Amino acid sequence: MNAVLKLTDLQPSPDDISGDVLAGLAKAPKQLPSKYFYDKRGSELFEEITRQPEYYLTRVELALLHNSAAEICAAVGPRAHVVEYGSGSGHKTRILLDALEDPVAYTPIEISFSALTASVQRLDHEFDDVEVLPVCADFTQPVAIPQPTRRADHALVFFPGSTLGNFGEDEALGLLRAMRQTMGDRGGALVGIDLQKSPAMLEAAYNDAAGVTAAFTLNMLTRLNRDAGSDFNVASFSHSANYSVERGRIETFLVSQRAQTVTVQGRRFRFAAGEAMQVEYSHKYTDRGFAALVARAGLKVVQRWNDPRDWFGLRLLQRA
Ligand code: TRP
Repeated sequence: MNAVLKLTDLQPSPDDISGDVLAGLAKAPKQLPSKYFYDKRGSELFEEITRQPEYYLTRVELALLHNSAAEICAAVGPRAHVVEYGSGSGHKTRILLDALEDPVAYTPIEISFSALTASVQRLDHEFDDVEVLPVCADFTQPVAIPQPTRRADHALVFFPGSTLGNFGEDEALGLLRAMRQTMGDRGGALVGIDLQKSPAMLEAAYNDAAGVTAAFTLNMLTRLNRDAGSDFNVASFSHSANYSVERGRIETFLVSQRAQTVTVQGRRFRFAAGEAMQVEYSHKYTDRGFAALVARAGLKVVQRWNDPRDWFGLRLLQRA
């Protein structure tokens, strides 16, 4: 349908990668921003993570979406404008658009222009009656949604993958409030959340035996050496991911295997042997904790779907 793609470029401010790395390494404990995992190689490695036997999240969520399609369709209602925060491989989007009744438009909001155009090109020709209206913007800020040619009944924000869990509490609240604004009074949000479960299972998912997750986290250092002017000795760091029961989250670190100095843009940072640099949190939810979180953003859970083993959940949110 869309011979010419109507892309809205809100020109999100470009990353200050060196500045972010300098600021992160100046903290105690040191940290690196997880958004820098996803260069070309990092995105490939992430796709490979989703195929590892221990990384159940993607598989279970895909099956859950698939098996809940009829109920999701009934709960959401016809003629939705689907607004996705971030754009992945498009696999989950396809299942959702297939499930819904007469979806009017699809708007992925993605900060990376190249990731946005790539995902949109894959989806644009598949759904004849769905107008594809991509927006290049930072979805952590409120974004005005383009008007489709055909009128939509309501907006449905789609935020799968338990990506919400990768944000700190304040940021997660900010995101939920942005969703609340985007969905309007009659709309909703469909959010994927990974659920609390045995630490052994969670830790296995973030420490796959084939070492793909380790390669993925270590790739950030290679990427920073190329793009941030750092000189990390990648071989002298190792991947570590542990589940904190108390905090309900996987905490991923890169650990310095020896005392060493890393230089970034001429500034030197000392690492002790065994010093851990934090790179990612992946929060895991209980129904109670999640309901309390969304309530603080003026939202409520109106329907919930879990897989048969209660590993992963989808929650339909509306304004409270
Ligand atoms: N952010 C996703 C998650 O929390 C993807 C991911 C899988 C990941 N393994 C990781 C991110 C290890 C950082 C480190 O599930």
